[in-house]
Amino acid sequence: MPIQWFPGHMAKAKRVVQENLKLVDVVIEVVDARCPSASSNDDLVQLLGSKRRIVLLNKADLADPVQTEVWLAHLRSQGAEAAAFDAVHGAAWDLLQMIRRAYAPVLEAIRAKGRLPRPARVMVVGIPNVGKSSVINRLVGTRRAAIGDRPGITKGKQWVRVGADVELLDLPGILPPKFDDQDEAVMLAAIGTIKEDLFDHVEIAGDLLAVLHEKVPHGLKDRLGIEKLAADTANNLAQAAQARGLLRPGGVPDLARAATLVLREAREGRLGRLTLQEPSVTQ
Ligand code: G4P
Repeated sequence: MPIQWFPGHMAKAKRVVQENLKLVDVVIEVVDARCPSASSNDDLVQLLGSKRRIVLLNKADLADPVQTEVWLAHLRSQGAEAAAFDAVHGAAWDLLQMIRRAYAPVLEAIRAKGRLPRPARVMVVGIPNVGKSSVINRLVGTRRAAIGDRPGITKGKQWVRVGADVELLDLPGILPPKFDDQDEAVMLAAIGTIKEDLFDHVEIAGDLLAVLHEKVPHGLKDRLGIEKLAADTANNLAQAAQARGLLRPGGVPDLARAATLVLREAREGRLGRLTLQEPSVTQ
């Protein structure tokens, strides 16, 4: 089942990111801690060139904490700066420290050339709905005061000062999600990246139930009444519909509403903290 997307919109968004990248020293790539690889953008590393990247496993409050540590170790073993974050409740302090660490070599080079040190310029990028705006809001807090246009910084772009030594582009860079892998597409649907009207709920929720059965069996049993998984996904959805009283006239289970419910419960973390993806040796 191909999930539809709008290649034109995404190509434009990517061009904007590419242009803004020229202006910054450090890029924070926000991914979803529940599926860090599925929610990252494969082209970004290439776009970045020698720019410093911080991979932020956001929505860590919804992910399995043990698995998040496994992901962090994996990413760091590959040389990436990585951290877990909760952009709704977390404090920005650690993130600021990471930005400063990532910027240190650039600052060093500026000093070595005898130039005046300047604040680190940072932008936040990621695929839709991973929490880019929330991360920006966390960093900026309530002190949203714009910095005026200055030489060296493109006119009209909105920069905000964070602390004394960091300037943040107050505009998240949107990257296209990937769609070439059906398993990853299911994950993206489950975390709410793909708009609800762009995919077949019954099919995706049916596939997702198999993952949920493995990862959060208690949540599945307690909230959706599914203890044993049937081979036929329609039966599983019917069971959830029965358990939650989603019935059409005549007592027929409403599979479409059950599918929407399964997706919502998974996305909102109601079935338990959930990591959908494990690191693989190729990632
Ligand atoms: P985006 O810019 O990448 O598109 O994402 P945005 O910040 O708009 O966040 C998308 C949704 O994810 C928002 O919820 C936001 O509150 C939620 N979110 C962001 N970061 C975290 C996090 O670390 N943990 C949790 N649990 N949620 C997070 P929404 O339902 O669309 O809107 P809202 O009414 O909750 O704000």
